[in-house]
Amino acid sequence: MSPRALDAAAVRAEFPALHQEVHGVPLVYLDNAATTQKPVAVLDALDAYYRRDNANVHRGIHELSRRATDAYEGARAKVAAWIGAPDAAEVVFTRGTTEGLNLLAWAWGTARVSEGDEILLSVQDHHSNLVPWQLLARRTGAALRYVEIDDEGRWILDDLHELVTERTRLVAVSHVSNALGTVNPVSALIDAVRARSDALVVVDGAQAVPHLPVDVAALDCDAYAFSGHKMCGPTGIGALWARRSLLEDMEPFQGGGEMISVVEREGSTWASVPHKFEAGTPNIAGAVGLGAAVSWLAGFDRNEILAHEQALSAYAMERLDELGGIRVFGPTRLEERSGVVSFTMEGTHPHDIATILDSRGVAIRAGHHCAQLVMQRYGTPATARASFYLYNTRDDVDRLVEALGTVREIFG
Ligand code: ALA
Repeated sequence: MSPRALDAAAVRAEFPALHQEVHGVPLVYLDNAATTQKPVAVLDALDAYYRRDNANVHRGIHELSRRATDAYEGARAKVAAWIGAPDAAEVVFTRGTTEGLNLLAWAWGTARVSEGDEILLSVQDHHSNLVPWQLLARRTGAALRYVEIDDEGRWILDDLHELVTERTRLVAVSHVSNALGTVNPVSALIDAVRARSDALVVVDGAQAVPHLPVDVAALDCDAYAFSGHKMCGPTGIGALWARRSLLEDMEPFQGGGEMISVVEREGSTWASVPHKFEAGTPNIAGAVGLGAAVSWLAGFDRNEILAHEQALSAYAMERLDELGGIRVFGPTRLEERSGVVSFTMEGTHPHDIATILDSRGVAIRAGHHCAQLVMQRYGTPATARASFYLYNTRDDVDRLVEALGTVREIFG
C-alpha cells in the first residue's frame, strides 16, 4: 500500500487534544520531544481493548484471554517490523526507554562489566542513557569515558581511536539528541567501534523511532531502546530490542510471574525470550495502544515525517533569526537536525519564556531537558525548546514567534 501524503492540517484533525483552547486561545503544542499527542486510532484501540478484550495474557484458557494475548503478541510483531527486528521474540516490552536501558545495565552489565573496564557514553545524552551506566560503573568499578560534542552539538569522533580501547565493554549513545535535535551518525560510529573492539553497542532511540526510519538489523547495534509515548502511543510502554543471543545469555532483570518456566523450592528456570524479561502482568493495554500507534504511523513515509519536521525547524530558525537576540543550539545543516529547536533569548530566562508562551497558548519545554551535560557544555543552565511532530504546521511556528515577540516586549 502506498503511504499517505503527509498533509499536516489533515493529520491534526485526528488528534482531539490539539483542538482545544488554553488560556482562551487555541492550543499550539510544541512539546513533542517530551511527549506527543494521541490520534483517534490509538484512543479507539485503547477503548476497544478495555471495553471488549480485557483479560490477562498467557494465562486463562478463555476467549477474552486469548484475545488479549493475541492483541499483546500482535503488538510485539508490529513493533518488531517497525524497527526492522529480524525476530519478534527479540522485542521486550518495557515501561519506556529508561527501563530498557536499566534492564541492560543490570541484566547484562552487572555480570559482564568489571573493574578496569571502560564504558563509552556521550555528553550529548539525556539522563536515561547516562545515569543507568553511571550506576553500573559505580557497582563494578568500571571507568566512564565520553564522546565530546562540538559547538554545533555534533559528536567529535576524531579521537575515537583513543576513546575505544581493548577495555571498552560498552558503548551507549543516542540516535537523536533530545536537547539539541542532532541526528547522529550512529551507523558510522557503530562501524568504527566494531573495527576496534567487541564492545556491546546500545542505542537510545527515544527521539529517533518516532521521526525517522530505523532498521536495527542494518544499524548493526546490539540493543536499541525507545518509548511509545513519544510516537503517538500511551505512556508507560516502550520496547527494548536486543539480539536474541544477548537476551538468551542475560540473567532476568526482575523476577515474578510470567517470566518463569519451573519454580522449585531452591530456584527456578526461566521462560524463553522475550517473556524472561516481562515479569508480572504486563502493560497489555499499553502494548495494544503502542501497536495501534505503529499501525497508524506506518501509514506514512517516515522520510517524509522527518523532512516535514526539518522544514518546520528551518522555518522556525529563519523566523527566530529575524526576531534577533536569539541563540539557537544544534547543527546549522538541516540534514543533521530533527524537529527540535532549542534556543535562548538574550536577557530572558527560558522558564520566563515558556511561562509567557503558555499564557499565549503555546506549549514548549524549558529547562535542562534531562541533559545537564549538554547545558554544561554550552554554559547555560537551561534552554527553551520547541519540538515538532507530523501534525505541526507553519502556522504553529508563526504563533510561537508572535508569542516570543510578546516576551521581547515584556523583557525589553
Ligand atoms: N526526555 C524527554 C524530553 O526530552 C523527557 O523532554
